[in-house]
Amino acid sequence: MIRLDICKIFDTVSKEQVYSLESEAKRCNDMLHDKRGAGNNFLGWLHLPTLALSQLTEIKETASVLRSLCDTVVVIGIGGSYLGTKAVVEALNNSFDWLTERKNRKNPVIVYAGHHIGEDYLCELSNFLKGRRFGIINISKSGTTTEPALAFRILKKQLEKEIGKKLARQRIVAITDKARGALRTLANEEGYKSFKIPDDVGGRFSVFTPVGLVPLAVAGINIRHLLKGAIEMENATGQDIPFTENIAAIYAAARNALYAQGKKIEILANYNPKLHYIGEWWKQLYGESEGKENKGIFPASVNLTTDLHSMGQWIQEGERTIFETVISIEKTDRKMYVPSDKSDLDGLNYLAKKRVDEVNKMAELGTQMAHIDGGVPNIQITLPILDAYFIGQLLYFFEKACGISGYMLGVNPFNQPGVEAYKKNMFALLNKPGYEKESEAIRGRL
Ligand code: PA5
Repeated sequence: MIRLDICKIFDTVSKEQVYSLESEAKRCNDMLHDKRGAGNNFLGWLHLPTLALSQLTEIKETASVLRSLCDTVVVIGIGGSYLGTKAVVEALNNSFDWLTERKNRKNPVIVYAGHHIGEDYLCELSNFLKGRRFGIINISKSGTTTEPALAFRILKKQLEKEIGKKLARQRIVAITDKARGALRTLANEEGYKSFKIPDDVGGRFSVFTPVGLVPLAVAGINIRHLLKGAIEMENATGQDIPFTENIAAIYAAARNALYAQGKKIEILANYNPKLHYIGEWWKQLYGESEGKENKGIFPASVNLTTDLHSMGQWIQEGERTIFETVISIEKTDRKMYVPSDKSDLDGLNYLAKKRVDEVNKMAELGTQMAHIDGGVPNIQITLPILDAYFIGQLLYFFEKACGISGYMLGVNPFNQPGVEAYKKNMFALLNKPGYEKESEAIRGRL
């Protein structure tokens, strides 16, 4: 089981202060399970890991078709429609797999599109795909989001031009709403293999639906193991679990207690570059869930020790409004020792025969102590090893804690009204039909 340690926040908030939130955390966990809170029509994620098991056969079949037909698969999606996949693939697959010669690679290369509107990137991607046996997984719950729709239109055309409409159909999978949205219409008309995203699951909580599971299976991730870990965490954070044993409730209480003491920024830190996108996924989860009604901890992330040489100064001595949550991996997958060197010109012989990870662990411990001394409370989440099972636990843990924490903060964690503001302006500026009034108004402001 992954472990949570909040002892190192007690210089800022006492254990009693955190535990005084016990009944509030319990009330909010109950609100989730009893579906009594705001956004209660978006709570399908609570039991997804168990439910998803029944879909594994279909998902694996689809994945093996794509794996057999393609050497490269483009995952198209934005926000919750791609971040879970990217986070898990980067955490678990070999970092250099995609650079390995095709014949020596176990899995297709996974590339991403539709998560921005960068023209250079799209051109470069399109060139990269030329002559490759590529397929597309197009993911959009609403089926109307501009960024993925634009990327899909371009790449679908390219694929059809290269291999013809009929063959292209076999290499395209759509994951979207069961009935609504342009992508559902397109998928039905073109006859693409498609999966439904449950109505009651929002994008950022959708990693255990086909949104995450299909591309992850294509990438060669053991999705059964991922779900098993998530189920373990689902059980360990249930309604009947006492507060003192429910790590999602404790984490939610700890961060709300810190927020009340003026700790307005939470930095999610890791000491393993493979976790970079876990940080990105987590930022979306917490940012979009909690940042509303002029409230919410600002979620930031750093990769250490890399960012100790950039953000380290700020964390150590900047404004004291931050706390840090560190994801720590107990045991690495591989072993590498520091070699000794006769001349010792670099002065590193004191490290000879030590594991590289021992050096990393001492950097982690030293940093933790320095940050605590600098007034940065520290929460620690420890994974015994980096594998699908514990990543499944971690993702569900963060989702559950986010639901509880959002309710404790007094917001609806399952909507994202603020995301619409930029879209409205963009559509007005682009003269989208139906936005005539807004177009006129916005031009007056330019
Ligand atoms: O969490 C969310 O709901 C959002 O981040 C969505 O995932 C994102 O906006 C993409 O939406 P869609 O899947 O409808 O294209």
